[in-house]
Amino acid sequence: MNLFKISKNEDFAQTGANLVAGLLQTNPRAVLGLATGSSPISVYEELISMHRRGLVSFSKASSFNLDEYVGLPADHPESYRSFMNRNLFDHIDIDLARTHIPNGNAPDLAAECRAYDAMLEEQGPVDLQILGIGGNGHIGFNEPGAGLEGGTHVVGLLPETRQANSRFFPSIDEVPRQAVTMGIGTILKARQILLLARGAEKAEAIRKAVRGPITTECPASLLQTHPNVVVLLDEEAGQWVD
Ligand code: F6R
Repeated sequence: MNLFKISKNEDFAQTGANLVAGLLQTNPRAVLGLATGSSPISVYEELISMHRRGLVSFSKASSFNLDEYVGLPADHPESYRSFMNRNLFDHIDIDLARTHIPNGNAPDLAAECRAYDAMLEEQGPVDLQILGIGGNGHIGFNEPGAGLEGGTHVVGLLPETRQANSRFFPSIDEVPRQAVTMGIGTILKARQILLLARGAEKAEAIRKAVRGPITTECPASLLQTHPNVVVLLDEEAGQWVD
């Protein structure tokens, strides 16, 4: 894993955005793996700014998001489709028909998961997968536990994850209990992975992911088996780095 601890906010965003923009400059048809949540927002803002300045185009790119809540209408403000439109897609030249997010309202979720993996198989692999990390070490919504699933699947969200995400909802009761997520196997198929961690509340999880044993109890630790991972940490998340 290539670890970078970056103290200035602008440099954090710029470094992440440069990786994405550099890829699109050499391969305009790149397949991007995208995440939601707070961690990638400044990188998306920088990409939007670079796009406005004519420095990057997404017109031939396609994207696959990691996950989506089960049971939230796609137009709900906290659905991951709404998040991606609001924070990235509405401001760049990507063709929305080539942006993929699992459908958490599919009548047959198992079939939806199989179809998502089949699409990834056909159009992938993902060239660059952006990831955040949960305070409990989850990536996508692959929660810690005795085992992990390889492919896209439906997952029950742990209480701590619902608690963490309740900051976006009027009350915790409104946070969905399930999500559809890419599995660890799917994530590890990406050619390159960009793992972003910000804030003191991520310090322990990211330390375990990078320096701890490889264990399903910290799903992000499985990234140690991947040959091409870039980890960007801010000062607080990287407080344990010498
Ligand atoms: C989001 C996702 C999650 C988040 C993680 C961190 O698509 O899959 O794994 O990356 O929960 O969330 P933030 O960045 O909000 O702290």
